[in-house]
Amino acid sequence: MKLSVLFSGVVASAVSVSADTVLWDGRFNDFTSATDLNNWSWGNQVGPYQYYIHGSSPVTSYVNLSPSYKNPADTGSKQGAKITLDNTAYWNGQNMRRTELIPQTTAAIAKGKVFYHFSLMRKDTNAPATTREHQIAFFESHFTELKSGWQSGAAGISDPLLRWCVGGQTKWSVNWDADVWHNVAYEIDFSANTVAFWHSTGGAPLTRKVAPVATSTSSNGADWHVGVLELPRSGYPDANEDFYWSGVYIESGDITTNVAGPGAPVDPTTSVDIPIFTRTLTSAISSSTTFSTVTTRHQTTITSSHVQPVTTSTTSTRAPPPVTSTSSTVSSIPSAPPTCTAAQYAQCGGVNFAGCTTCAAGLTCKFSNDWYSQCL
Ligand SMILES: *[C@@H]1O[C@H](CO)[C@@H](O)[C@H](O)[C@H]1NC(C)=O
Repeated sequence: MKLSVLFSGVVASAVSVSADTVLWDGRFNDFTSATDLNNWSWGNQVGPYQYYIHGSSPVTSYVNLSPSYKNPADTGSKQGAKITLDNTAYWNGQNMRRTELIPQTTAAIAKGKVFYHFSLMRKDTNAPATTREHQIAFFESHFTELKSGWQSGAAGISDPLLRWCVGGQTKWSVNWDADVWHNVAYEIDFSANTVAFWHSTGGAPLTRKVAPVATSTSSNGADWHVGVLELPRSGYPDANEDFYWSGVYIESGDITTNVAGPGAPVDPTTSVDIPIFTRTLTSAISSSTTFSTVTTRHQTTITSSHVQPVTTSTTSTRAPPPVTSTSSTVSSIPSAPPTCTAAQYAQCGGVNFAGCTTCAAGLTCKFSNDWYSQCL
C-alpha cells in the first residue's frame, strides 16, 4: 500500500478545509507500458486493472500508453491511454468489438457517494464511427455511461453526438469534435440511487451539468468498464478506432474539480488562491473481509448459448465478477419490481443491491462477498 499525504496551497484567510480520498487510482502512473496489464490474471489479481475484455491479439494492439495520449492539463497523470478497436477486437466469440479495463480493487468504490473521474478525447485519425453505437465508460447494468455514434434503433444513418446517458436515456450531449478533451465525473450516490454529471473541456474546472437523476445504481464494485463496446451494424464494416483516456480515478468526499487531479504538482502561480486542504491518497482501502474460495465462473455470449466455464482457485478478497451478455439493441436497465426472480448467474444480493433477491426455481443465491451474491 502506498500512502502519501500532500499539503498544498496555503493562505492566511483560508475558510474551508476539505478532504477527498482517492479510493482507486487508474492513472497509469506506475505503468512502464501497456504490457504491464498482462501482470493481471484471474489467478494473480495484481495492479490497478483487470484486463480480460479484449480481442486475441497482443495487448499493444488494443491499449498503448504515452504522455502524448493524456490531457495536457491533467498534470497528475504521467501518461494517458489510447484504447483501440481494430478488426480483431472481438472478445470471447461475441459480435461486438470491445476493449475494456476494469478496476482491480477491494476499496469501497460502489458505496455511498463517490466520483468516477476520466477524460476522453478522439482525433480525426481513427475516429470512432458516427454510424455505429458506442458504449463508453459504462457499468454492466448500463445505469450510467457515455455513448457516441448512431444509436441502435434510431432513424437516420449517423450521429455526431457524445452523450451522457442514465438508463439508456440521454441527459446531456455535445458534438464530439476532434482534439477536444472532455473531462467527466459521474457523481454516483449508491445510497440514494442517483447519478449526476460533471463536465468540462480542456483545462477548465469541472462543473455539475446535470443534477442527480434517480436510477438503480447497481454495481458489484468491479464492473466499471473503462473502455468501449461497439455494437455491430449491418452494412457498416469495421474500421480502426482510437479513444484517448486521461485522469482515470475514483474518489470519495468532495469532488476534485481541478483537471490536474489529486496529487498533481502545485502550480506556484495559482497556489496562493487555493484554501488549505489535505489530500490522502490511498491506493487501496482494504476491506476486512478476506476469504478463501474456489470459484467457478461462467461467461455467456449473446451470439450463441455457448457457456464457457472458467475455474480459478485463489485466495482473494473478492470473487471474480460475473460477465453477462450485453444486448445488441437495447440497454437493459435493472428495475426492482416487488416480485421478481433473478436468472442463473445474475446478481441477487450485496450492499446497495436494489434488484431481485429471489433466484429462479432450482437456483440458490450464493454469497460471494459483502458486495456480491449470485444465483447459482
Ligand atoms: C508488472 O510486473 C513487472 C515485473 O514484475 C513490474 O516491474 C511492474 O512494475 C508491474 N507493473 C505494474 C503496473 O505494477
